[in-house]
Amino acid sequence: MKSLKIRQATVADSVLLSELIRRTIRVSNSKDYDQKSIDLLCAIFEHEPVAERIENELILLCFMGTELVGTVGLRDDYLRSMFVEPACQGRGLGKMLVARIEEEARQKAISEMMVHSSLTAREFYSALGYEFVELQSYPEGPFVLMRKPLQ
Ligand SMILES: CC(C)(COP(=O)(O)OP(=O)(O)OC[C@H]1O[C@@H](n2cnc3c(N)ncnc32)[C@H](O)[C@@H]1OP(=O)(O)O)[C@@H](O)C(=O)NCCC(=O)NCCS
Repeated sequence: MKSLKIRQATVADSVLLSELIRRTIRVSNSKDYDQKSIDLLCAIFEHEPVAERIENELILLCFMGTELVGTVGLRDDYLRSMFVEPACQGRGLGKMLVARIEEEARQKAISEMMVHSSLTAREFYSALGYEFVELQSYPEGPFVLMRKPLQ
């Protein structure tokens, strides 16, 4: 297996990151959201808004060799922008990225991590110790607010 490397994103990564996220939304989230929701979600992750996110929050990128295969972000006490390249899902990359961002949160003295989980990722977060708070409705569709105390 090629080596994995994790580093913080810079604005120069915005096009590559936007492509990974929008590809993953179209492939992986389509089973849980209708086309209108998928289009709205993809618009949120066009490269300009992604560049703004990179400037305003901590975003980690995971590379396998030279290929970008995953990402996760942290803004205040919210885990955000969690995506793994569809062909690389189910191999523990998402779990590893969550562990890394939880460690970043602990270092910032954040005591509880929150996430607006997609319907697609709800069981993933449950497997990692996140518990259901409430179902929320957005123009992009339903999301699940979840929480996890950090020790
Ligand atoms: C959700 C996502 C990030 C998970 O990444 P991944 O690399 O496939 O997840 P992992 O392989 O690290 O799985 C970690 C654990 O979660 C479990 N898990 C993952 N997806 C699951 C699912 N759909 N149902 C049940 N369990 C699941 C795995 O079995 C594994 O459990 P284990 O540690 O006991 O073996 C990835 O599927 C993805 O990008 N989905 C589409 C985008 C999305 O919805 N992102 C979330 C936005 S809030």
